[in-house]
Amino acid sequence: MLTLKDININQLDSLSHNLHKILEPSDILGLVGELGAGKTTFVKKLARCYGVNSEDVVSPTFVLLQTYEGGRRLHHWDLYRLESEQELLPLDYEETFFSDDICFIEWFDKLKNLKPQEFLEIHFKFTSETQRDISFFGEGKRGKALVQKLKQMYQ
Ligand SMILES: Nc1ncnc2c1ncn2[C@@H]1O[C@H](COP(=O)(O)OP(=O)(O)OP(=O)(O)O)[C@@H](O)[C@H]1O
Ligand SMILES: [Mg+2]
Repeated sequence: MLTLKDININQLDSLSHNLHKILEPSDILGLVGELGAGKTTFVKKLARCYGVNSEDVVSPTFVLLQTYEGGRRLHHWDLYRLESEQELLPLDYEETFFSDDICFIEWFDKLKNLKPQEFLEIHFKFTSETQRDISFFGEGKRGKALVQKLKQMYQ
């Protein structure tokens, strides 16, 4: 686990660039944190690293899934309104979770049975109006490797 403390918006820019350098096809990023904690902001900043206009990145709260075509295809889930994992079945979630694309999942903690086995989970916590503590947990071989790489950059 790695926690970066009191990250402001400018530091978030450099964090997303650093993460962009180490992300690979098939990576899954699970985003966790209360309303307004910064999950979508984080996706916007990373998507920009792939050449996607941040104005095109909006939480797919009602449709659950949005896909952006950048230097790489990015899938962006927002599970806020998900009442049951069953709702994901007709949305071809497997094609986004298990693909050569990069997958962002807001409200990742709503997944139970359908939670993938390898992912990087990122927790956002308010510390002030303009700062957040950001923690990284890796699950599976790939998730753990990503946390290791981040530690090398930040510790
Ligand atoms: N250090 C920071 N990191 C992230 N967001 C910040 C930071 N400082 C201020 N903000 C602001 O906090 C807000 C975060 O909103 P955002 O939509 O990203 O949250 P969210 O976690 O996706 O919320 P929701 O669950 O409602 O979708 C934005 O207005 C952003 O500009
Ligand atoms: Mg959001």
